[in-house]
Amino acid sequence: MQTFEITGGTPLLGTIEVGGAKNVALKLLVASLLTDDELIIHNVPKLRDVLFMLDVLKSLGVKESFVGNTVRIQGGANVATTVPLEVGARLRTSSMVLGPMLARFGEAKLPNPGGCRIGARPIDRHIEGLKKMGATISYHSDDGYFYGVAKKLTGADITFEKNTHTGTETLILAAVLASGKTILRNAASEVEVDDLIGFLNSMGARIQRTAENEITIDGVESLHGSEYTVMPDRNEEVTFAIAAVVTKGDLTIKNSQRNNLESFIQKFSQVGGGIEEIDDKTTRYYYKEPLKASDIMTQRYPGFMTDWQAPWALLMTQSEGVSTLHETVFESRFSYVSELKKMGAVIEFYTPKVADPEKFYNFNWDDKVEGYFQGIRITGPTALHNAVLSIDDLRAGATLVLAALSANGQSYVHGVEQVDRGYEKIEKRLSRVGAHIKRIEEE
Ligand code: EPZ
Repeated sequence: MQTFEITGGTPLLGTIEVGGAKNVALKLLVASLLTDDELIIHNVPKLRDVLFMLDVLKSLGVKESFVGNTVRIQGGANVATTVPLEVGARLRTSSMVLGPMLARFGEAKLPNPGGCRIGARPIDRHIEGLKKMGATISYHSDDGYFYGVAKKLTGADITFEKNTHTGTETLILAAVLASGKTILRNAASEVEVDDLIGFLNSMGARIQRTAENEITIDGVESLHGSEYTVMPDRNEEVTFAIAAVVTKGDLTIKNSQRNNLESFIQKFSQVGGGIEEIDDKTTRYYYKEPLKASDIMTQRYPGFMTDWQAPWALLMTQSEGVSTLHETVFESRFSYVSELKKMGAVIEFYTPKVADPEKFYNFNWDDKVEGYFQGIRITGPTALHNAVLSIDDLRAGATLVLAALSANGQSYVHGVEQVDRGYEKIEKRLSRVGAHIKRIEEE
């Protein structure tokens, strides 16, 4: 296991470059299954999740090279259609090969994606849609595999009962080669989906957003190669903006995208975070004044994104007064709370009042974790002190690194492999702006 040794209390000062968006890069790599031609993809972040996805594709016979942040990848006709358990189960997003494999090869066998291996969750909405396009998909709990078969996928008019970012993308990746037109209603409107759409259209697909939360895809015979550059990562920018303020520092962020972060910037300014537009791709975030409390509810795009919830909670430990955070997308996304409380944060769980929770929450209600709360109440400001912390999910991990940087004294953060899943060379980039952070291998 790898650990960060962090000595906090130093303001972060300087410039940080945001990398390519993980949640776009992963899907562009999957698109290699849709053509025999080579794809050249730039600005791919060198992250564990990206390397895991490349392992999945290589296990199918896809050829790839990853030099710097450019991936050259070629699927080809002789691609296998069974994802081995050891590679498939490591990455939840590996399930996205299902759509393209059915569209291209008419069959697919893949292990139940990461997380608990029971039942069809959390890709029931993906499977629902593929079945409407003519696929037969079954889940065999004896070997934990999904088996999919489809003579020829046909276009369908599909309405998602609840929002799903990768579910929308899975069906787009299937519909591009299906025969006829597919309409996806109540489809995800995250900007990362637009990057996938742009990429697939550059390969010859015919996809367009035809109304709010509605995507229309006209299936084509085949797709050809393309060269594309991944958009910057919105979650990285938010993480570094919060890092600037919680360390009472001043960071200039390059590859910034304020236009895609409106809901964040509105709240960030509201609570007193300093922000300055340097140019259309550069933004300065800095500590300006004592922070005010806030009430946030996470939502699908363009609302306040669930991935920003953990770092925001840290920010609110430094704000005057009582803040609330209501998580409506995932059923268990407060793993970092116990760790922040070890550092002196005052946080309590509560149950937000919701008229019809089964309909209101984005997760499947029967996935609700008993005794789990969807809301936290944070009372600040509290000076955080050092602690020994452990990470079990990506955004929580980044939050605990920032917490250790903002706290006085020396902290240890175990399980930083989780952070490597979403942030390339994080300790190098933070050290360059003054952080005292060292990676130590622990046997
Ligand atoms: C994507 O996850 C992102 N991951 C997440 O980022 C992000 O938090 C999320 O979208 C919301 O924006 C990738 O793109 C790889 P959903 P996704 O399908 O697609 C439930 C990160 O940190 N659900 O919109 O999995 C689901 O469990 C990650 O980079 C079902 O129950 O999110 C969740 O509670 C974390 N069945 C909710 O719906 C389904 O078939 C929203 O899921 C699909 C989803």
